[in-house]
Amino acid sequence: MKLNQLSLYNYRGYNKQDIAFGKGVNLFIGDNGSGKTNLLEAIYFLSLAKSYKTEDSNLIKFNQDFSRILTTVDLIDKSYDIKIILSKNKKKIILDGREIQKLSDYIGQVNVVSFLPEDMNLIKGPPKNRRYFIDSIIGQMDRNYLIELSNYKSFLKQRNDLIKKLSEDKNPDMTLLDIYTEQLAKAGEKIISYRNNFINKINLELKSIYPYLANNPYLFEFKYLPSIDSSLEGTLKENYRKDLFVRTTTSGPHRDDYGFLMDDIDAKDIASQGEQRIMILSSLLAVTEIIFHYKKQRPILLLDDVFSELDTTRQNKLIHFLNKSHLQTIITTTTTTNINQEILDDAKIFNVKNHFIRGNKHE
Ligand SMILES: Nc1ncnc2c1ncn2[C@@H]1O[C@H](COP(=O)(O)OP(=O)(O)OP(=O)(O)O)[C@@H](O)[C@H]1O
Ligand SMILES: [Mg+2]
Repeated sequence: MKLNQLSLYNYRGYNKQDIAFGKGVNLFIGDNGSGKTNLLEAIYFLSLAKSYKTEDSNLIKFNQDFSRILTTVDLIDKSYDIKIILSKNKKKIILDGREIQKLSDYIGQVNVVSFLPEDMNLIKGPPKNRRYFIDSIIGQMDRNYLIELSNYKSFLKQRNDLIKKLSEDKNPDMTLLDIYTEQLAKAGEKIISYRNNFINKINLELKSIYPYLANNPYLFEFKYLPSIDSSLEGTLKENYRKDLFVRTTTSGPHRDDYGFLMDDIDAKDIASQGEQRIMILSSLLAVTEIIFHYKKQRPILLLDDVFSELDTTRQNKLIHFLNKSHLQTIITTTTTTNINQEILDDAKIFNVKNHFIRGNKHE
């Protein structure tokens, strides 16, 4: 999947901007505040029809009434046009000339895998960051997972509501709790199986990607850390007393976690900033391969400010790797002084200044 060209009109600080992307690595170089992240955000918007950091109204250029994103996406055998118009209280999406009525019918048309500076919190942050990350990737590959997840969540809510009621009862009748627990366990087993499957796949891909980028002797493995690793139903039932005391369901897939392990030790305890960055980047690259196996289309890779904290060798290795991959990659950076000219020669370079983009090669 490739973005052919993109036109922004009144999007964030952009006035009117046309960009013709290259098929491989596209490097956007510019100072702080020049509009690099805003550009990536516009591409991200094409994928999920929302920004990852703010509501739609902030995307419209200050003092303007609407903003517009236009693009053509090329797939292997066809291409399609997307037009998004954001006005104060309305979002209109037009796919190949036809207006989308239900957002859920649109989401998934453009597959994007992104690295944002805040993704560094994947290793350091709380388990919910890792759960959200993995859930959104599995969901991007397989919509059924999102349906299963939403089933699980509604059973969980139902069970938690009941637990609250029962906890106020002196002689609680557990019959209904048994039924709700069995329902939750059944739905949870499905989630666990999707997650196990995904973790096996990502580890397989990491074996070839990580050693090249990391350039170190360590083994990086993704580990699934389910909150219950024996029978789900059995354990949920054993925990009745605790759940009633705490007034919520204290274990299950909603409390699962994942470890980024470096030689079997949690990376947050031993890996440096740059090493953690490489681990996350390798994981994202592994994800692009897995998505390709499922969808037969490679997603577009967005890398925001990816070079900071990486040494010269690893910056060069990363670009070299991406040049050789079949991914369309859009990278932002404030400087390319550390990158070899011959590696840069394979990329398409753009300069960004005050929300104005100029391509200085292959135009
Ligand atoms: N709706 C808007 N209208 C006009 N300007 C906006 C709007 N939203 C954000 N901006 C401007 O965009 C700028 C930030 O742009 P952006 O985040 O893309 O910078 P950047 O090039 O990624 O910088 P850095 O290198 O620091 O990450 C801010 O100066 C902000 O004022
Ligand atoms: Mg930025």
